[in-house]
Amino acid sequence: MVETMARTRLLKPIKWVREDLKKKDSFWPTEELKKKAWVSNELIYKEAAKDPVAFWGKLAREEIDWYEEFSSEKTYWEDLPHFKWFVDGKLNACYNALDRHVKAWRRNKAAIIWEPESVNEPTRVLTYYDLFLKVNKFANVLKSLGVKKGDRVGIYLPLIPEVQIAMLACARIGAIHSVVFSAFSGRSLKERMIDAEAKVLVTADGYYRRGRSLNLKANADIGVEGTDIKSVVVVKRIGLEVDTVDGRKIVRLGLDTDMIEGRDFWWHDLMKDADSYCEPEIMDSEDTLFILYTSGTTGKPKGIIHETGGYITQALWTTKWNFDMHDEDLFWCTADVGWITGHTYSCYGPLLCGATMVHFEGAPNYPDIGRWWNIIQKYGVTIFYTAPTAIRMFMQWGEEWPKKYDLSSLRILGTVGEPINKEAWMWYFKHIGGERCPLIDTWWQTETGGALINSLPGIGPFIPTVAGRSFPGITSAILDEEGNPVTKDEGGYLVLKSPFAPGMLRGVFKNPERYEKTYFGVYGNKTYYTSDGARFLDEMGNIRLTGRVDDVMKVAGHRLSTAELENALTEHPSVVECAVVATPHPIKGEVPIAFVILKGEEGSDTIRKKLMDQVNQMIGPTARPDKIIFTEDLPKTRSGKIVRRLLKTLVKGEKIGDVTTLMNPESVEILRKKLASTKQS
Ligand code: WTA
Repeated sequence: MVETMARTRLLKPIKWVREDLKKKDSFWPTEELKKKAWVSNELIYKEAAKDPVAFWGKLAREEIDWYEEFSSEKTYWEDLPHFKWFVDGKLNACYNALDRHVKAWRRNKAAIIWEPESVNEPTRVLTYYDLFLKVNKFANVLKSLGVKKGDRVGIYLPLIPEVQIAMLACARIGAIHSVVFSAFSGRSLKERMIDAEAKVLVTADGYYRRGRSLNLKANADIGVEGTDIKSVVVVKRIGLEVDTVDGRKIVRLGLDTDMIEGRDFWWHDLMKDADSYCEPEIMDSEDTLFILYTSGTTGKPKGIIHETGGYITQALWTTKWNFDMHDEDLFWCTADVGWITGHTYSCYGPLLCGATMVHFEGAPNYPDIGRWWNIIQKYGVTIFYTAPTAIRMFMQWGEEWPKKYDLSSLRILGTVGEPINKEAWMWYFKHIGGERCPLIDTWWQTETGGALINSLPGIGPFIPTVAGRSFPGITSAILDEEGNPVTKDEGGYLVLKSPFAPGMLRGVFKNPERYEKTYFGVYGNKTYYTSDGARFLDEMGNIRLTGRVDDVMKVAGHRLSTAELENALTEHPSVVECAVVATPHPIKGEVPIAFVILKGEEGSDTIRKKLMDQVNQMIGPTARPDKIIFTEDLPKTRSGKIVRRLLKTLVKGEKIGDVTTLMNPESVEILRKKLASTKQS
């Protein structure tokens, strides 16, 4: 009898558990899962640890096509914290993601299945060949706009296939893409474009969110003004015949798009006449593939630099092994391409593997709460990767929604972006995975390029709130303040040890000191400081992450800095001073709370609204404070520094210790009372 997917047992009952992990709620792969998995033998960890450089070298040779082989693994560590991978190797990331497949049997395999937000619009399916053709044409378009190897190209697009097309076209010609999340404001875009010194911007007229059309081009115009950008390419998403290949015309109310003559061009006009082949640029392994801006502890986002050879090797192998990606799988990573998760797992990783991906343009609950589960059912998604925040949101909406759909095609689940609490883990495992699917909790950062700590599907264990072991060939440690390794039960600071992962950042754009100070200023040049707290669970090296230890917040999985928010608020003329701290939130993980001192005016709903608008304009709606507390005073040290630690304690409602050393101890009690009486969001 043919066994249905739903009946295939993927997890073992608890009696299989190893002695040291004989716990309720720890799960292990079954023989079926092991048999299918790319890796199922624990020895891989030991073998990789013996010589991580040789291990990664083998992986890089096995699946990546090189124009010129990397000569050896010799020199990468001589100048730490600066390091190199696959020295002298020559390759092209786009060639590896597309041409390699187009030349073989995957030519007509679906690369991207794109589901529009509206249920009335047709799905777009792009085969590897479709994607190849479009990428080649757009690469020629970029060239015709004067883009050369090493130039920066800004990409400010919603989740439509043009975002991957634009990224890969940059990679093809050796231009460096810098994608900015489409929900970031025009001001945020501008700041990033100025820092990157971008020459061209690729954007869209707008996009749909819960049925409304949003004018992205208007934001893009703000972002372009005062920068070096000479040309803007605009995808017509609103009011567009969705794809001419489909031959179906969708007539919608369009947006009025102001096109500036000589600067702005419609994507479809430029593509019409573009040549359909563009020779890939031969890139050095250490040439930059992209810059992605992310939040640190200062007000200025940092441009994280990723190089070609190391990044794509890690993107490919972490996709393949962490998600056990096979050709027949259908992978859905819900992350927007504006974030690192979208770069590595909604673009490069799966394409490098020759996988098929689903992308969904819209909001998870539009037109109803069943939309995501409907998509899984509709296409038969087998691997699903999302954020704990989304899980908690669906938990709140109730399990009756996923129950309406057939989710039996799923075989592997993943999460990313923030620690996952046990309730959310169990809910996801039970109601989405039907208690069949291993849940891969992947820890990583914009800086690490790809997922580095998680259990592998064929090895396990899968334990709620525990990410797992470091990927083979990666060495992590947990240290105390002095740099001594901590024992099992104490928490400490998570670090990565050299040799660092091939896909890790090589620098902060135009700011080498920030690179050296932030990541290597704590424990020295051989130890990358992650800014995350963690504990080891057992001798096997399974790790539980406990959250950021700096002033970076993860709000609904989005990375934001309190300093950026403070900057945005203090730019408002009514604000004298402010402090922002993160506080735990049952769904979003964390939310920002702003304490604001106003100039000669009382706090009111009007000024509160103005400040919320200010944040929208300066950063974007994701950064809106959950609460704004107006106050006359903030707790300060005698030297006048705001004590944010105390504010954190206050917002969490925890016990306050001794405050007598403060300049203004009375401010603490006043704030406590204010917080207790403030309900707004
Ligand atoms: C947090 C996202 C716990 C962590 C890929 C890290 C996690 C920050 C996990 C990076 C996880 C990411 N468990 N925490 N599985 N994954 N984080 O740069 O605090 O947006 O430092 O990259 O997210 O966020 P970023």
